[in-house]
Amino acid sequence: MKVLTTIQQVRDFVQAARARQLSVGLVPTMGNLHEGHYSLIRAAAKECGCVVVSVFVNPTQFGPNEDYATYPRTPEQDLAGCQAGGAAAVFMPSVEEMYPRGQTLATVSIASLGDNLCGASRSGHFTGVCTVVSKLFNIVRCDKAFFGMKDFQQLTIIRRMVDDLNFPIEIVPCPTVREPDGLAMSSRNSKLSKEDRAQAPALHASLELAREMILEGVRDSRAIIEAIAAKIAAQAPGGAIDYVKVVHPDTLKDVQVPDGPVLVALAVRFQGARLIDNILVDAAAKAS
Ligand code: PAF
Repeated sequence: MKVLTTIQQVRDFVQAARARQLSVGLVPTMGNLHEGHYSLIRAAAKECGCVVVSVFVNPTQFGPNEDYATYPRTPEQDLAGCQAGGAAAVFMPSVEEMYPRGQTLATVSIASLGDNLCGASRSGHFTGVCTVVSKLFNIVRCDKAFFGMKDFQQLTIIRRMVDDLNFPIEIVPCPTVREPDGLAMSSRNSKLSKEDRAQAPALHASLELAREMILEGVRDSRAIIEAIAAKIAAQAPGGAIDYVKVVHPDTLKDVQVPDGPVLVALAVRFQGARLIDNILVDAAAKAS
């Protein structure tokens, strides 16, 4: 496995892979890799002859009061995991390599899909994500790129960006990977205190409660949101709700009456970390 730190090295590496008729898969990450990331790398290795993992904590997607400085960085561990997962190369650029002039003048932003959910409280976040992902797509020129469904809004936005801007890339969504107690795997879980870690599975449990309510016929999003909030207040008192929403999975707009496919999504701030999670439910399906 090659460790690449410059854009030119990546271009040369990918060109050599293409000369060997290999298809190229990209797994963009911010490092501190866990089983969720490894599942993306494995999915990429199944579908592509050459897998490139990018490990870059992208400063432009963090707001001034967010955790850029303290975001967990574990490069040695990440390299070992990428190698074990079957990556052909890891792209680990410096901030100067990606942003030699500081902030780029050109940015990629997304209209309404970025307004709700995380976009409502993380101003500029999705512009930072779309800009760095566009740069990675232009650097790696992959055939396929793999993204986890835990970041459902990010996935939806990137799919739309690829479609609107004609990137010749297939976006492959991969299911959320969970701890045995249901907590969605995230690099930020390691920043939780012991007490908050013990409470955090309530997030997924509350989403499962929402699923049951919808499948049993509850058609009032307000009642579902209130039930989720009550469960989190009871079982995770260390967490402050940022949002709980029932939205359409394509438009990400609020749905008042869930009578078709919906995404139930939430973000909760604990002292050490803000966690997000979601589930897709088809309200038209019958409860089993
Ligand atoms: O999901 C992430 O880890 C990041 O938002 C991404 C896609 C790697 C862009 O920095």
